[in-house]
Amino acid sequence: MDRLAAARVGAAASAGVCALVAGAVLAQCVLAARRRTGRKTKIIDMMPEFQRSSVHIKNPTRVEEILCGLIKGGAAKLQIITDFDMTLSRFSHEERRCPTCHNVIDNCKLVSDECRKKLLQLKEKYYAMKLIPHLSIEQKSPYMVEWYTKSHGLLVEQAIPKDKLREIVAESDIMLKEGYETFFDKLHEHSIPLFIFSAGIGDVLEEVIRQAGVYHSNVKVVSNFMDFDETGVLKGFKGELIHVFNKHDGALKNTEYFTQLKDNSNIILLGDSQGDLRMADGVANVEHVLKIGYLNDRVDELLDKYMDSYDIVLVKDESLEVANSILQKIL
Ligand code: TMP
Ligand code: MG
Repeated sequence: MDRLAAARVGAAASAGVCALVAGAVLAQCVLAARRRTGRKTKIIDMMPEFQRSSVHIKNPTRVEEILCGLIKGGAAKLQIITDFDMTLSRFSHEERRCPTCHNVIDNCKLVSDECRKKLLQLKEKYYAMKLIPHLSIEQKSPYMVEWYTKSHGLLVEQAIPKDKLREIVAESDIMLKEGYETFFDKLHEHSIPLFIFSAGIGDVLEEVIRQAGVYHSNVKVVSNFMDFDETGVLKGFKGELIHVFNKHDGALKNTEYFTQLKDNSNIILLGDSQGDLRMADGVANVEHVLKIGYLNDRVDELLDKYMDSYDIVLVKDESLEVANSILQKIL
């Protein structure tokens, strides 16, 4: 071997050693960093949907463990429990706020301007109360009942006809989150039960998902349903009121549904409010629950609280991509 060739071999060998050493050092750094932050994750680190800046996870190890449990259980053990307004529906689109189910009615042309003004005043007062961080759910509940009672009373005064609902929804700005087709269709394809538990208006919600073409046979809606008189005019609301902070006894009030699903012990829960966290309370035989929370508003004030209570927090995220990516791993 001439000197030049020997030098090349020597250089290559030392470069190889350097690369090996550098690789080992890097691996050690990564391990050390993971140990420092308590991160020992594999699945979520490899999922591009989890790398976005909107995704916040306080305890990645716990999320990893739950995900492993969900993947292991597969379709047979899975069920979804989700909120509707601002969870399946969008909070905003192109910098404009999107309506809730209630707002779809509030904003329709059958409601008088005077009534609309009163509904808006109520919303301003009670929406702020809903978000006060230092008040407990128990303390806020009576105010929510007050809001719903006043707001439903005002809607009844407007004598809304049942046969106008289709048009009212079609003309509204309510929108489902990006990726909703995949979400609903995949769940249907694999016969995964989807329980939509909403403190909105059931008739509006059902019309929204019907018009979007995703009201499949695996979907069950529990919400506040309108009651119409014999001429088809709104006269009130049926059954017990569901408001944003009394969702904890939903499973107990729907025992028939959840008894049928006793083998579906793995749950993905989706919500946007602190009250939604308790939507799976009372479900018997629970193995794993993954709680995904959308934080749409007052992010600075509420992020810590959301990260303490939801496993995955999605900040100002108008899509279902994270949920869809999880479903893709499970199904
Ligand atoms: P959700 O349980 O599907 O999120 O629906 C409840 C939402 O409805 C909640 O964000 C409060 C909202 N709401 C209105 O927008 N207007 C109203 O008049 C009332 C009573 C509730
Ligand atoms: Mg909601």
